[in-house]
Amino acid sequence: MHTELKKGVYWVGVVDWDLKAFHGHELSTHRGSTYNSYLIVDKKIVLVDTVWGPFQDRLIENIREIIDPSKIDIVVANHAETDHSGGLPLLMTHCPNATLVVSKRGAESIEGHYHKQWTFQTVKTGDKINVGSNDLIFVEAPMLHWPDSMFTYLTGHNILMPNDGFGQHYATAFRFNDQVNESELYEEALKYYVNILTPFSDRVLKKIEEVLALNLPVDIIAPSHGVIWRKDPLQIVKKYQEWAAQKPEQKVVFLYDSMWHGTLKMAEAIGEGLAEKGVQFKLINMGVSDRNDALVEVFKARTVLVGSPTLNNGPISTMMPVLEDLRGLKFQNKIGAAFGSYGWSGEAVKIIEEHFAKCKIPLIREGIRCKWQPSQKDLEDCRAFGREIADATLKQ
Ligand SMILES: Cc1cc2nc3c(=O)[nH]c(=O)nc-3n(C[C@H](O)[C@H](O)[C@H](O)COP(=O)(O)O)c2cc1C
Ligand SMILES: [Fe+2]
Ligand SMILES: [Fe+2]
Repeated sequence: MHTELKKGVYWVGVVDWDLKAFHGHELSTHRGSTYNSYLIVDKKIVLVDTVWGPFQDRLIENIREIIDPSKIDIVVANHAETDHSGGLPLLMTHCPNATLVVSKRGAESIEGHYHKQWTFQTVKTGDKINVGSNDLIFVEAPMLHWPDSMFTYLTGHNILMPNDGFGQHYATAFRFNDQVNESELYEEALKYYVNILTPFSDRVLKKIEEVLALNLPVDIIAPSHGVIWRKDPLQIVKKYQEWAAQKPEQKVVFLYDSMWHGTLKMAEAIGEGLAEKGVQFKLINMGVSDRNDALVEVFKARTVLVGSPTLNNGPISTMMPVLEDLRGLKFQNKIGAAFGSYGWSGEAVKIIEEHFAKCKIPLIREGIRCKWQPSQKDLEDCRAFGREIADATLKQ
């Protein structure tokens, strides 16, 4: 199976409808994904990126529909992560003399994954390789999202291949952005951004400015996952600028869990206080909710409230993964507070507050605790707490 993007430029990747988890089980992928590989047939034959290892036979079949894979002269590996480089070992047995074009850090990371003596050519930003009627131009994009990450641009056809940048874990019947459901597409593009690129938002903004300043015409943005942006391709670049600015909405997300609903009742009463002030909120029980989807809600909101009962002198363990993500994703422009029910020692709220400090999320005020199940007085205190959180949320 293959799709022609422009004359002599083909998508030869794979659609993985079955994929429900990525990065081990770190990232949920409810809508599957694709591994996009691009074949350029000119005087030179070029393959830009491969596919994940289990699909390497399919890549070779797809290439064979167009040319004999032994004819490939140049293989560009924009990024060594195995969802894009996994097809290299098999591919390189078909074209052992092909030049493997990588960034400086890519030479190290591809070597580090495969330990093979392939013929490497290292490129840096601005370097060009002529392939016949057109050139490949390279732009290093370190930490978007690995040190090796690189964008490849094809002149003449004006195709930017930014690897994981602008991608989405989204399996679809057709390959282009104008052929799919727009709201699904943006849901997946945002989830990808939030869960993978947020910590590098400053670099995203700088890299976009750098690439725009090159004044290269862009007809197509062809990422390594999901659909290819051909209709108004710069729409996703504008969205990335908006997301990278991290300007949250004046609303509140609760991340909580509760064994016997004491902490839940507190959350609901805090919510009543927010509602009195007209502030939108969502309660997300981390015991039963998808972490990556919850993080998208956190990304959108100004305020994050973390609630947990105390269990064995600490927060309930179901809160731990999302708290760790909150630290690692380095969300900007957030404020927060903690709350929770306890029985005797009640450490959870303080431990969550210490964690907020590690996340560099300032506290709106000290947390609120209630012993055992909340009394009428406790619930009134929670409503007052909610009103205070509302005022802080609206103040930004
Ligand atoms: C297994 C278990 C361990 C607990 N450990 C502690 C603890 O170390 N310190 C404490 O203050 N309360 C502890 N508690 C009491 C709970 O914090 C208390 O029941 C609280 O009201 C539960 O809130 P929830 O209704 O939101 O689950 C524990 C409860 C259970 C079931
Ligand atoms: Fe990657
Ligand atoms: Fe990827």
